[in-house]
Amino acid sequence: TSPLNIALIGFGTVGSGVARILSTQAKNIAVRAGREIRISRVVVRDPDKAREFLPAGVEVSTSIDDVIDDPQIQLVAQLIGGIDPAFDYMKRSLAAGKDVVTANKALIYAHGSELFERAAANERTIGFEAAVAGGIPIIGAVTQALTGNQILSLEAILNGTSNFILTRMLDEQHAYADALKEAQRLGYAEADPAMDVDGTDAAQKLAILTQLAFSTPVKLDDFVRQGIDGIELLDLQVAADLGYKIKLLATARLQNKRLEISVQPTLISCDRTIAQIDGADNIVAVHGDAVGNTTFSGAGAGQLPTASAVVADIIDYATGRTAVTFQSILRSSQQEPWPVQP
Ligand code: NAP
Ligand code: HSE
Repeated sequence: TSPLNIALIGFGTVGSGVARILSTQAKNIAVRAGREIRISRVVVRDPDKAREFLPAGVEVSTSIDDVIDDPQIQLVAQLIGGIDPAFDYMKRSLAAGKDVVTANKALIYAHGSELFERAAANERTIGFEAAVAGGIPIIGAVTQALTGNQILSLEAILNGTSNFILTRMLDEQHAYADALKEAQRLGYAEADPAMDVDGTDAAQKLAILTQLAFSTPVKLDDFVRQGIDGIELLDLQVAADLGYKIKLLATARLQNKRLEISVQPTLISCDRTIAQIDGADNIVAVHGDAVGNTTFSGAGAGQLPTASAVVADIIDYATGRTAVTFQSILRSSQQEPWPVQP
């Protein structure tokens, strides 16, 4: 079988992690994917930067045209953040007949509907497991494994940077600014960390998950959103003295046939599992009417955990499984939406 040629758009924390896994696990992945997965091209902003894990001989360019114009490239891993130029790159990739995988939740949140429509019109697929909760396979769980359920609630920690800062402040007495710098150094934070600490990143992820779980369109303006940027060490210490932790909690709950959604710092009793999620870890507790309570937790940010989800999407694509995920999303979007509590 001929190799699957892919392009990586972006070779930062996540892109280099994808290259690292594809290289270190090349033989096993080829078996699971049914063919060799070959990085044919990498597109970045600065072609002169030293790049760890860049495979030998791979062409590095600064123009998406080199990918669009290469008929050998079948799959584009879109791994740059923000909307511009990521949205344009993704539309052009789909229009050129290429399938896409991405970790970009800001883009999926803002333009997911249009991108999925374009993908369907071009008979292409979009994998986005890495866009929510890093390495935790929650998109697959909600769109495939749990589709026999009416989901009743989601309760989650969805931003690794915020959780890392809260943990470091309480456990190591680090100042807020120092903990944020450490999260940036470790590759957890966005290029502009304002979205991490003001609750926007968690809210975008919750909006994506809620739309998939409840088949209801959700915008950030539909719900209360507050970040951790106003939390002080004293708040965390007083909470701890009372037997609580403060966590940036993201919830979506069906209550009296309405959806109640919020992202806000919340006091959680220390004996609850969710209070014990520390560092950059995330958790998503899903309550379904048939399955009851299920809990997914693990690394919510960082190079290898996030790349783990991207590589899974790439292998799914190689084996033809992505189409299943995509179909289930389309199917659920045809259901009657729930009203969202204003
Ligand atoms: P990053 O470390 O800042 O890397 C971004 C990469 O994109 C860099 O290689 C950069 O090139 C390249 N780039 C930026 N603008 C570009 C442009 N206009 N044209 C070509 N290349 C461009 O970001 P990251 O942490 O890997 O995040 C990538 C995406 O994954 C984001 O959407 C993020 O939200 C998402 N994500 C990240 C994590 C995480 O833990 N980091 C987890 C889940 C999802 P240069 O190297 O030349 O600057
Ligand atoms: N900046 C994000 C976070 C990366 O800290 O959770 C994972 O999406």
